[in-house]
Amino acid sequence: MAEKTCAIIKPHAVQEGASGQILNLIELNGFKIEQMKKMQFSEKDAQDFYEVHKERPFFAELVDNMISGPVIVMALSKENAIQEWRDFMGATNPEKAAVGTLRKMFGKSISYNATHGSDAPETARRELKQLFNI
Ligand code: CMP
Repeated sequence: MAEKTCAIIKPHAVQEGASGQILNLIELNGFKIEQMKKMQFSEKDAQDFYEVHKERPFFAELVDNMISGPVIVMALSKENAIQEWRDFMGATNPEKAAVGTLRKMFGKSISYNATHGSDAPETARRELKQLFNI
């Protein structure tokens, strides 16, 4: 059965004009875009979204990046969507991401890594609830 995951095109990738290419690749790779919106995270929303990372040394930088401009947020569906989307994004650090992955193609650094995806079913539920109330 199709599963849902939460995907985000991060501010730097939107700013660089990469959204269209990324959306095209999402559909070419068999994901269905169930919901999508362009939005601006408030500081509080970004802190809530990345709450699991709040004790990490990079948390403030992560929040600053995510509020630096608009993002495109999506609910994607596909069989095994959570893992499939993680595989298609590639490693968190674009330098370590495999050829053909989104982060290899569009990421600049670990902070500017082009896309986000839910890492587990519980995270996907929480993120989709926060962004789309679904
Ligand atoms: P994302 O998939 O959005 O989930 C959390 C984000 O934190 C991650 O992508 C990276 O952009 C960022 N991140 C993870 N590890 C580090 C790190 N060591 N330094 C800076 N940012 C990081």
